[in-house]
Amino acid sequence: MTSAKRSSFYSEKLYEQACQVLPGGVNSSVRNVVPHLVFKRAEGALLTDVDGNEYIDYHAAFGPPLLGHNHPFVNRRVAEALHECLLPGVGTTELEIQVARKIQEHVPSAQKVLLCNTGSEATFHALRVARAFTGRRKILKFQGCYHGFHDYVLRNVISPADKVDGLDPGSAGILPEVLENTLVCAFNHVEEVETTLKAHRDEVAAIILEPIPHNIGCVLPRMEFLEGLRDLCSARGVVLIFDEVITGFRHGLGGYQKICGITPDLTTLGKAMANGFPMAAVCGKAEIMDRFNTRPGGDTFFAGTYNGNAVGCAAALATIEILEREPVHQHVFRLGERVRKGLVEIHERLGIKATVAGFGSVFLSYFMEGPIQSYSDLLRNDAARFVEYRRRLIDRGIFKIPMNLKRNHVSYAHTDAHVDRTLETCEDVLKEMFGAAQSPRRLVAT
Ligand SMILES: Cc1ncc(COP(=O)(O)O)c(C=O)c1O
Repeated sequence: MTSAKRSSFYSEKLYEQACQVLPGGVNSSVRNVVPHLVFKRAEGALLTDVDGNEYIDYHAAFGPPLLGHNHPFVNRRVAEALHECLLPGVGTTELEIQVARKIQEHVPSAQKVLLCNTGSEATFHALRVARAFTGRRKILKFQGCYHGFHDYVLRNVISPADKVDGLDPGSAGILPEVLENTLVCAFNHVEEVETTLKAHRDEVAAIILEPIPHNIGCVLPRMEFLEGLRDLCSARGVVLIFDEVITGFRHGLGGYQKICGITPDLTTLGKAMANGFPMAAVCGKAEIMDRFNTRPGGDTFFAGTYNGNAVGCAAALATIEILEREPVHQHVFRLGERVRKGLVEIHERLGIKATVAGFGSVFLSYFMEGPIQSYSDLLRNDAARFVEYRRRLIDRGIFKIPMNLKRNHVSYAHTDAHVDRTLETCEDVLKEMFGAAQSPRRLVAT
């Protein structure tokens, strides 16, 4: 890896071709970033683009490859499963039972489990069953949290300042009446949730949250907030849903609920659960889960042609087996801490106004001062600098996605040498961007 200007000749050519056939040249809107790189290999902690440039990858495809890309043990188990029974599409396979058992064993809320393929499916099903169970119409989410692409939840994620307290639909084409039935509160503000529930007495079916809102980097929850939500939901018959699509498996086998000791009624899982293979789950209290019509007499539709397919199941079982027997969490937590400490020291040395945030394997630097308790605080982040910093890091072989507020991930495949190189490069880039003009000052780390 060198800091010389890298060639992007083939990436540019392929991007042009992609644009002729795919609107915008990508298959997921959040992948449309500059530079338009085209990757051909992902191995361990590294990505290689079609021009042969190598990058230490912290983007991690928004979170799945916790063990590192292209993990041989996971791949082998998937290949073995292909020879057996990929998709009978009727009844249940042994692999499906084994995956559900593992989730039940590890995730505190998981009395019963159903498998699907994406986090969006999982949150969709969780919210629909919460409505069926409670007989209520509305749901409540938090500003800054993302729960997938469907209409129930696609509002008020990364909102401009003037829309934070109003309606910020995430897409055209959503029925206004669906948006109106999704209420939005500020994260970490339990009083606001209480007031909202009072104003919509007996109308709210579910509260859904990322227990750590990682879709805006890392905003740590206050314990009183999570406890308050649990108490309010229990007292008012509201279904509490932890969307652990990012935090599940990444922060621990039992998800963040095991760490914080608050048990939701329903949980959604995905991403790190199968190290990059498509797999997701909705799980929770038996009396709610039994409403799904996978069970005779259930009234809430649940289906999917590919649900429980052997590729996702074998990948999940292999991933969980490694998480159970190897010091994966110990490793990624240690390296995550090393990066965060290193960044704080660099910012301090250079006198840069920044806040290093993170938890476990997740880290990022916001270009602003703390404290950070909810999305509105992050409006102070210098978004242009945040993105520029990342573009310059990409030029030097460190890949963090150049999009405002996005988090970075350490995997089991990252090493101390990767961290050393990353910190050196970050320091070089920050010096280049901020020059020597800043005066040293103390910084806040969350
Ligand atoms: C917390 C959370 N929930 C749900 C989803 C949706 O998952 P998917 O993209 O697999 O549909 C995401 C995706 O980033 C997520 O971060």
